Amino acid sequence: MSNVLAVVGARPNFVKMAPVLEALDGEAEIRLLHTGQHYDKALSDGFIERLGMKQPDANLGVGSGSHAEQTAAVITGVEGDLGEHPADLVLVAGDVNSTMAAALAAVKLHVPVAHVESGLRSRDWRMPEEVNRVVTDRVADVLLCTSDDAVENLAAEGIAEGAKLVGNTMIDSLLRILEGVDREAVVAGQGLEDVDYALITLHRPALVDDPEQLRPVIEILGALAVEMPVVFPAHPRTTSRIEAAGMKVPEGIRLLEPMDYAEFIGLEAEARLVITDSGGVQEETSVLGVPCLTYRDSTERPITVEQGTNRLVGVDPDALDSAIAEALAASTPDSPPQIPLWDGKAGPRAARAVLEFLGK
Ligand code: UD1
Ligand code: UDP
Repeated sequence: MSNVLAVVGARPNFVKMAPVLEALDGEAEIRLLHTGQHYDKALSDGFIERLGMKQPDANLGVGSGSHAEQTAAVITGVEGDLGEHPADLVLVAGDVNSTMAAALAAVKLHVPVAHVESGLRSRDWRMPEEVNRVVTDRVADVLLCTSDDAVENLAAEGIAEGAKLVGNTMIDSLLRILEGVDREAVVAGQGLEDVDYALITLHRPALVDDPEQLRPVIEILGALAVEMPVVFPAHPRTTSRIEAAGMKVPEGIRLLEPMDYAEFIGLEAEARLVITDSGGVQEETSVLGVPCLTYRDSTERPITVEQGTNRLVGVDPDALDSAIAEALAASTPDSPPQIPLWDGKAGPRAARAVLEFLGK
């Protein structure tokens, strides 16, 4: 059997990687390496448990730091791990620092790289994730794409060989977890039975690290909270920035800890409206048929706007205010959109592409 080193590090990595590892089980020898980029249970171990992943074989413990510190620590750690445990392929997912750093460590050791969620492009070079995506794809050998536009983006960059349209593995995890979630109980657990509510996630540094950008958004959410409950499970980056800026969160906004994956999906599925800057949440709401407002100027996931329920608002408080009013005035879709290959079977397709590359 071939040896595959799968590297994960941050919250969305687990959700994207789990279905691929499950499908590779028994077909390849998997070593799971956690970089430790995320370390709080709510962003890390809680996901491993919920998704039924195997416990990581090792954790590099890189923790938080500047981009250079985090990236350098992951490169050094993955290089060391590959030295001790040679692999035929390194598998990475998404667009976080751990993704790019692991891919760089591998390519320098001439170990092939497979990238889950390849080819997405926001064309905003100031987003750290965009740098991570472009660099990872440039060195990857197997480029596993969620949608046609991703394959086209790669082709436009001269990358054709190795690109495979397999669908969205994050949706495999979503559909799987939904089967086991008692949505009514989750909603009741928050005291939200029989009421419309809005669910919020915001964590992009360009927004939350700048109090001048964040303050008007919090005010708009405060106004929304007068109309309906506003549930805001906040990333620790966001909470610490709100505290550091001495910002007063209006009463009515329920500022919570990051939520357990099953609970979050249950609340997301039943929400009247989701407001976010998350990549994954744009995709999940599209499949769930829940209206989503994305508070960003660009999205690397245009298919969620074209075929899903996502609306790109732009970073403009007035535009957000109007978009909220419009979304609440509009009816919700009768049935959720069907996006090609976002069907719960992307993990096995991704695994097949990896095994084919390995000659299996
Ligand atoms: C990272 C990713 C981002 C992804 C997000 C998912 C990069 C460049 N960014 O952003 O693409 O959308 O994860 O959630 O890789 N912190 C904790 N506990 C933790 C981890 C972090 O409190 O377990 C706090 C620390 O104060 C840290 C801050 O969050 O400085 C930011 O963490 P970091 O991993 O650098 O980036 P994220 O904002 O989480
Ligand atoms: N998520 C969660 N609890 C929360 C917020 C998000 O379980 O409190 C899940 C969400 O369902 C999605 C993933 O975390 O699967 C998205 O992660 P995040 O928004 O941090 O990263 P991004 O997708 O922006 O890279």
